[in-house]
Amino acid sequence: MGVKLGILGLGTVGTGTVQLLQDLNGRHPLLREIEIHRVGVRSPQLPRAVELAKNVLSTDLEAIVNDPAVDIVVELIGGLEPARSLILKAIENGKHIVTANKAAIARFGDEIFTAANKAGVYVMLEAAVGGGIPVIQPLKQSLSVNRIHTVTGIVNGTTNYILTRMQTEGSNFSDVLADAQKLGYAEADPTADVDGLDAADKIAILASLAFGGRIKLQDVYSEGIRQVSKTDIAYAEKLGFVIKLLAIAKTLTPSPSSPSSTPPLSLRVHPTLLPKEHPLASINGVYNAILVEGEPLKQVMFFGPGAGAGATASAVSSDILNLVAALKTSTANPNPLLSCAHQDYCQIVP
Ligand code: HSE
Repeated sequence: MGVKLGILGLGTVGTGTVQLLQDLNGRHPLLREIEIHRVGVRSPQLPRAVELAKNVLSTDLEAIVNDPAVDIVVELIGGLEPARSLILKAIENGKHIVTANKAAIARFGDEIFTAANKAGVYVMLEAAVGGGIPVIQPLKQSLSVNRIHTVTGIVNGTTNYILTRMQTEGSNFSDVLADAQKLGYAEADPTADVDGLDAADKIAILASLAFGGRIKLQDVYSEGIRQVSKTDIAYAEKLGFVIKLLAIAKTLTPSPSSPSSTPPLSLRVHPTLLPKEHPLASINGVYNAILVEGEPLKQVMFFGPGAGAGATASAVSSDILNLVAALKTSTANPNPLLSCAHQDYCQIVP
């Protein structure tokens, strides 16, 4: 029996995800077990870049999270409400969640994960940080034995795209922002991007994973790029620096008067002068990168497209696939994702 999805939202990321799930040639065979059962939209009359049967589209998002046939709710509407309530309702109904919603996770993560643990369902959020870059799963799993001391990221594609074009073309801020919106990188309200709030949400999530516990968004200092001028960028260049919007989470040395097992953290987002030879200085355009430093690994950097339909759809769909694999895990095949993905390609030719 297939795994049924209820997708909430058919904007840039929703459309990219449906396109990916409808184009299965050469992709992992488990994807064939997925059925797009319902897609919730606000405006069904809008032209769409995907074809869906009439009975799949619905304006009743609540009915989707209450639909007993739906196994996984894929929340791609973004924003705080009704996203939070729909996710919580879906969890209460025993559905697994895949979400790209950094704002909701950064603010309501505690409530959402408490509810999910109680209901025994998964919440997957790879697409919430870094667009298509796999960074959430590695922090949760492959890096989890490290004592991490710093996470430094370029985690907002829109502002990196704007700063890069201001630097390379001498373009002005508002023209490049309009392009970023056209290309589907910016949030519906680009204030969240340019004022550093989107990056603050993302570093709060990364810090929660890297350092454990739940980081409160209000503990993140954030400052955006509105005040960065072409002149600042030109002077920085002359001195051997670039200006990047960095999101930083760093452990501080605990004061001897208040020793604690969990060291205090500094959390901040702001435009930063980076020497040109710094590993993050050459990350340009819509690309994101996250540099994780700790012991014993020292440094590892994750790099890739940080926004846009295809990149984010890759992260959303991988979460869906991982969930399908987890739901199918049985003693007969305990490693569904470790078995050969493309049987035809995996034959060894002597
Ligand atoms: N607006 C976000 C960005 C989208 O520009 O990075 C991806 O989270």
